[in-house]
Order: sequence, then C-alpha cells, then structure tokens
Amino acid sequence: MPEEPIRLGVVGLGRAFMLMLPTLARDPRLAVLACADPRPEARARFAADFPGSRTYESMSALCADEAVEAIYVATPHQHHVADVRAAAAAGKHVLVEKPMALTLPDCRAMVEAAREAGVHLIVGHSHSFDAPYLRTREIIQSGTHGAVRMITAMNFTDYLYRPRRPEELDTAQGGGAIFSQAPHQIEVVRLLAGRPARSIRAASTVWDPSRGTEGAYNALLDFGDGLAATLTYSGHGHFDTDEFQDWTGEMGQQRNPAEYGTARNVLSGLASREEEVMLKEKRTYGLGPGATEARTAPLPGAYNHFGLVIASCEFADLRPTPRGVMIYADDLRHLEHLPPPEIPRAEVIDELHAALRRGTAPLHSGEWGLATVEICLAMLQSARTGREVALHQQGAP
Ligand SMILES: NC(=O)c1ccc[n+]([C@@H]2O[C@H](COP(=O)([O-])OP(=O)(O)OC[C@H]3O[C@@H](n4cnc5c(N)ncnc54)[C@H](O)[C@@H]3O)[C@@H](O)[C@H]2O)c1
Repeated sequence: MPEEPIRLGVVGLGRAFMLMLPTLARDPRLAVLACADPRPEARARFAADFPGSRTYESMSALCADEAVEAIYVATPHQHHVADVRAAAAAGKHVLVEKPMALTLPDCRAMVEAAREAGVHLIVGHSHSFDAPYLRTREIIQSGTHGAVRMITAMNFTDYLYRPRRPEELDTAQGGGAIFSQAPHQIEVVRLLAGRPARSIRAASTVWDPSRGTEGAYNALLDFGDGLAATLTYSGHGHFDTDEFQDWTGEMGQQRNPAEYGTARNVLSGLASREEEVMLKEKRTYGLGPGATEARTAPLPGAYNHFGLVIASCEFADLRPTPRGVMIYADDLRHLEHLPPPEIPRAEVIDELHAALRRGTAPLHSGEWGLATVEICLAMLQSARTGREVALHQQGAP
C-alpha cells in the first residue's frame, strides 16, 4: 500500500514560503492541505495553487484543522515561539524556519513544548540540509582523508540591499546578517566539524547607516583540539562568491554575471522606506509568482548552496559545490558528482518524512536550532565587546 503523504499546513506565506514552494508543490511525500496568513491575496493564491486546500486568517484556526498533522512555520522570527507552542499544543509536528527564535529562553520553551506534546520539532531550511554538505560530512566521517583540521566558509552576496520590512533592518528585532544569514554558515560548519563548538570570536559593525543593521561579519568558531572554522559573510552587493561557483546561485539557479549591482540600483531608485516595503510586498506570494510557476519551472540542475566552503582534512581539502564534492587529495583532484536534484530542497522533506513516518530523530532538532541561536547571540556579544565568548549549549551534532 502506498505510504500516506504528510498532511501539511503552512503559516506565513512570504519569501521563505516562496523559496520552499518548488519543494512543497512537487514532493509527492507531501499533501499541502491548509495555510494561515493575514493577507487575503496570499490566501487566495494558496487556494488556487493547492486545489481543495483550506485557508485561514490566523494560526489558531490552522491549529484547529484536524486533518493537518504537521505545520511549516514560516512567519517572521518574532512569531516563531508562539506559533511553535500553538502547533505543539494542538498535537502538530513542526518544521520552523531559521533562526528558531531570538533568545535562548524562547528556544528552550519551543523544545519543551514539543517534548511535552510528543511531537517532532525540526528547524530549517538551513543550507546544512543541502546534499553536497551532507555528502561532505559522510566523506569526512569515512576517515579516508584523515581528520578534519580546519573549515573555511565564505559568502559574499547582495543580501543587505534586497527590499526589507523595517524590523529586518533592526538587529534588536532579529534583523541583519547575523540573525538571518549566519545560521546557514554556522550550521554548515557545525555539520562538517561533527562535534560541539566551544567558543567564538566575531567582528561585525554597521557599515551603511542607511540600512542600520550589520550586513557583514567575520568570526572564528573554535571546536577545540586544534579544529576551528572561519566564517566570513558580506551582503554588501559588491563581490559575489557565486563567481566561484560557475555563477550558480544560492538556489541552484544559473546567474547572469552581467546583472551586476541590480539590488543596489533598484533600492537607490526608491524614495522612502514605505516604497521599499511596498516593493517587497509586490514580489511576495499572492502578487508575485505562485506554485504553478514553481511546478512547471525547469529544475535547476544544481543543489542549493551557501557560498564557498572548504573542509581541510589531514590529506585532502574537500569543497562542496552545487554539483557534488571537489576532492583535492595529495595526487589527485576530482569532482565526486551527485545526481542532480529531482526536487529542490527535497532533503528537508527527507528529514521530516524520516521523523514522521520512520520515527528517526531529526538532525536539525530543536536542540540543534537552539545551539545555532546561542552562536548567533555570542557573535553579537563578541562583536560588541571585542572578546571571545564561551559556548555552553552545544549538544553533539
Ligand atoms: N531558509 C531560508 O532560505 C529563508 C529565506 C527567507 C526567510 N527565511 C526565514 O523565514 C521567516 C520569514 O521570513 P520571510 O522573509 O518569509 O518574511 P516575509 O515578510 O516575506 O513573510 C512573512 C509572511 O508571514 C505573514 N505573517 C505575518 N504575521 C503573521 C501571523 N501573525 N500569522 C500568520 N502569518 C503572518 C505575512 O503576511 C507574510 O506573508 C524568517 O524567520 C526568516 O529568517 C528563511
């Protein structure tokens, strides 16, 4: 008998949801049944995109939908704690977007709520789900190339100049590169290190007062016994590390290098913050492209990625790429190909499906997400004080 698909509800139909739409629209292991969002145009599009689905204005109404067994929480960060608690209290499993929350007490409350309710809590999507990073971890764990000794992660994007809501430009409300972008890099290097981090030293300042939040950082994440990772990120829209990935973009799409400076140019043509918010809204779900486009778009042919990552082992450097893993050993350099993705970000559903249908404990659990938030907060503290910050909430990966 064919296995029953996961009966999914979604709360928050914005940018994160749109990035997951190709996955939700194509993966046969899912039945997308219902949504909640205060925006009527988003609900109308959802009803058209997922025929027979139910649409609600509020999370409480979605939680009362008995047919839904799991909820993908893709609301802005500040809603995550309340949404996860509500979902767990209603007996629903949860996939919550990163960052899980903005404080450790909120993260703990979410872990506790899931534990009490006996439901799975998975935190993602983060790029540490992407197959090339998972394969690199397997290669490291095989021991073929010796122990991992150093990890380098570097990503340069135009993140800071994409249209934003006001709170996305306010670090205190969870805005800025450390809350929004660092979780990806932190989780990729934690995955590859394979053991708990011990401390972090970071630097980050606001370079562009017109954006008001940090758009760049660098950091040294120490895993002890001589293993450390450097994390470098800039969202200032100048150099772009996709140049080092054959112009393959974060979502595995082909980039056009001739489109230099587009994000910055679009933003400089706006007269006010209100216009910026309107531009963001115009591109979002309900007004921008929907599931039909996501279902019929050609598959990207390459995996998602988050910039340049190199895991340096004793006898080889391993470089995950959108098409596989480049292995630079003593006498041989070659690409270990991965078959192209059939469904973008299917790895997220692999983990959700394994948890819900096989009872397999997820890697990206609530505790995992909490450890990432601890590192984000420590980065901000270290950048402020100029000191190394010890980490105390890092479970084994
Ligand atoms: N993993 C990724 O690649 C990725 C990418 C983008 C965003 N995110 C994360 O996803 C989350 C959402 O970010 P976004 O960029 O999609 O934001 P967004 O502003 O684009 O969308 C938020 C959506 O939530 C809805 N919403 C707001 N309040 C609500 C409420 N009380 N109940 C129900 N719906 C509500 C809004 O109407 C909107 O549709 C953030 O935590 C962000 O960090 C993750």
